[in-house]
Amino acid sequence: MRAILVANPKGGSGKTTLATNLAGYLAKENQRVVMWDLDQQKSSLNWLALRSSELPAITRLGLERSETSQRVMEKNDWLVLDSPAGIQGKNLSHALKLAHKIIVPVQPSVFDMVATRDFIDRLMEEKTINKHKAFIGIVGMRVDPRTRAASTLEQFLSQYNLPILTYLRDTMVYVNSAFNGKSIFDLPFYQAERDLMQWQPLTAWVRE
Ligand SMILES: Nc1ncnc2c1ncn2[C@@H]1O[C@H](COP(=O)(O)OP(=O)(O)O)[C@@H](O)[C@H]1O
Ligand SMILES: [Mg+2]
Repeated sequence: MRAILVANPKGGSGKTTLATNLAGYLAKENQRVVMWDLDQQKSSLNWLALRSSELPAITRLGLERSETSQRVMEKNDWLVLDSPAGIQGKNLSHALKLAHKIIVPVQPSVFDMVATRDFIDRLMEEKTINKHKAFIGIVGMRVDPRTRAASTLEQFLSQYNLPILTYLRDTMVYVNSAFNGKSIFDLPFYQAERDLMQWQPLTAWVRE
């Protein structure tokens, strides 16, 4: 089983949007996916509760209390971890230990970039991460790559030598699909074509 952590200490940076859509993508690819929502707001689990049983299945962690982590690992191909704003300390260390890859969504605002800088610095201090720098990927969230905002974000990130996996545009496609527990991968192709294209480098990186 491989674990993907979506994290950024900033609220509203797009963690849950990324985590739910990533889970939706993997499920659509016939992968066995379990979600673990570390956020007390439980947005990912609320999304999952809205999801029709006719869509590709995604399970949630902790439904059966008796389930051991060994059993969870045997039963699933992927663990997608959604995390809360302000994650730090022991909770962060624990999540980082589990994760094979970490996706950090960043919006190109000065507030988000400053919060993210401190977070990336913290990640770089982490021993397990230090050895595998390649396993952190940045996603420019709600950005058009042709804009000045995108180049400001690129300039800011260039100091870290971390890959910007993709830019996801600001669109109601994410908002509307979430209303009924869908990811963009569950929509008719014509509704999500542009967004599916933007996801391609991200899904390739996750699965490589
Ligand atoms: N690419 C996007 N386009 C439009 N709205 C988005 C996008 N990404 C996130 N949002 C919206 O922004 C809000 C915050 O996103 P969310 O994924 O919940 O962030 P977080 O989990 O980091 O707090 C949500 O209402 C979500 O629907
Ligand atoms: Mg969230």
